[in-house]
Amino acid sequence: MSSEKIERVGIVGAGQMGAGIAEVCARAHVDVIVFEQTRELAAAGKARILKSLDRGVSSGKITEREREQAAARLTFTSELSDFADREIVVEAVLEDEAIKTALFVELDRVVTDPDAVLASNTSSIPIMKLGVATSRPERVIGMHFFNPVPVLPLVELISSLKTSDAVLARAERFAADVLGKQVVRAADRSGFVVNALLVPYLLSAIRMVESGFATRDDIDKATVLGLAHPMGPLALSDLIGLDTVKSIADSMYAEYKEPLFAPPPLLLRMVEAGLLGKKTSAGFYEYVNGRIAT
Ligand code: 3HC
Repeated sequence: MSSEKIERVGIVGAGQMGAGIAEVCARAHVDVIVFEQTRELAAAGKARILKSLDRGVSSGKITEREREQAAARLTFTSELSDFADREIVVEAVLEDEAIKTALFVELDRVVTDPDAVLASNTSSIPIMKLGVATSRPERVIGMHFFNPVPVLPLVELISSLKTSDAVLARAERFAADVLGKQVVRAADRSGFVVNALLVPYLLSAIRMVESGFATRDDIDKATVLGLAHPMGPLALSDLIGLDTVKSIADSMYAEYKEPLFAPPPLLLRMVEAGLLGKKTSAGFYEYVNGRIAT
């Protein structure tokens, strides 16, 4: 039996989700190793986390000392073999089934602790597909965080048909007791709970722009003022990343074959054009220093 305490975590990917998950772990007093493929990507991920920790200090959520301690708990590597002693690994790489599957094959090889939990932050890829890429599908689970991870309190937990109850319980204790998140459980169906609701809504908003049904500004204003959403669906699509919205929609369409999950042509063209939203400073909106340009 492994100890209940989880003290050594590995995060694969230091993009906006991976960086956010790593930050939340470090702030929760956990030792974190973050994997990125290159030194440049690791440096960008580190800068992202430090900037967010600074934001935590300036908004009074953490002290300078807590920021220093959190930063000291983070190590960056480009060798997956450094994950050998990790008790839980959360992967947050591109939303691409082939890439994630290959990564789980590697994690299965390098993580030596037989009790380790191998978790995916996938938004939409069924966990069973990732589990069967390993020799230990009972240790593979979905832990789906929400962007921005330091702000949004939810984690969806997704067991596949093969995930053991012990792994589910361990992942739940980690998310709730260690990271202080709220947990919901979802069946292993593409999109789980949140994206199964969110993605048709985002795609509908994009179709509205595409057809001239309403303007970008009016659609976002309507949902902020009429539904009390913190941001409209077009600004939210930009925040998530239009490439990610498309990938999630593709997975959901492949699973359900329902037109409401089919990415509209406008989304496809924007992705092809490299207009990916906030991360490229242009999507439905333009961004200056991470803020919508007025
Ligand atoms: N890191 C740390 N803290 C952050 C942050 C970040 N990246 N972004 C915002 N914050 C904090 C700020 O410090 C601020 O804290 P304070 O109130 O204590 O000062 C607070 O969040 C609000 O930030 P701002 O004042 O800068 O901006 P807003 O009030 O406009 O809030 C927002 C920004 C938090 C992004 C808010 O608009 C929001 O919650 N939007 C909805 C986001 C959402 O729906 N996310 C889910 C996406 S779906 C997903 O992730 C799943 C995936 O599979 C697609």
